[in-house]
Amino acid sequence: MSNLQELKFKILILGNSGVGKTSMLLKYVDNFFPQTHIATIGVEFKTKIITKGKYKITLNIWDTAGQERFKSITRSFFSGSTGIIFVYDITKRESFSGVRNWIKDAEGYGKFDRVLCGNKVDLEVNRNVKLDELKEFSIKQKIDYLETSAKTGNNIYQAFDKLVDNIIKNRTEDELIRDFGIKSKPRGVTLTKNKPKVVETKSGCCK
Ligand code: GTP
Repeated sequence: MSNLQELKFKILILGNSGVGKTSMLLKYVDNFFPQTHIATIGVEFKTKIITKGKYKITLNIWDTAGQERFKSITRSFFSGSTGIIFVYDITKRESFSGVRNWIKDAEGYGKFDRVLCGNKVDLEVNRNVKLDELKEFSIKQKIDYLETSAKTGNNIYQAFDKLVDNIIKNRTEDELIRDFGIKSKPRGVTLTKNKPKVVETKSGCCK
């Protein structure tokens, strides 16, 4: 029998439509890269179990819809989340403005551990957001920044790993067990704005 302490984290992936959120999740969990863009409806989630030091961690990773019309559904999923991966597409300038809005938006709901990803780095020739600009932004925001590619797998594992490291680093062992221990009632961020709604999606996912 394993002596590892079991924890459960709820992770959200946020960013504009088409930046590669679903692709990053599929690459991380299933090592699969979808060639086509099938827009996420509402939210969907996947689970991955990892071990880190003395912890066995169940990651419930929620892939949100980037389309504007699903924004209020996405916001209702901030409740109880532990960490957020914010994603933009390095070839699409407007997706960088989009991610800045998502970061601002999330700040209104509580304090989350965060990682920012500039995805599609395999399309470097089409880069539209300068690396220097990103460095300056991430320092100002105190947010870890990684350039990723769901297509090649570059930094995908590292992005999720960095977020998990941050969650652990920012808490004592007692806090981790109290708030995320699998036998205790999971607690993430307490919602400071709108109450969460029960959401049903076409794919039948629920919170
Ligand atoms: P919504 O569900 O609408 O919010 O979109 P999404 O952010 O989940 O985007 P999705 O993962 O569906 O990817 C959109 C398109 O970008 C797909 O055609 C993917 O194949 C492509 N894509 C995703 N990641 C990468 C990447 O790292 N490199 C390249 N070249 N294409 C990518």
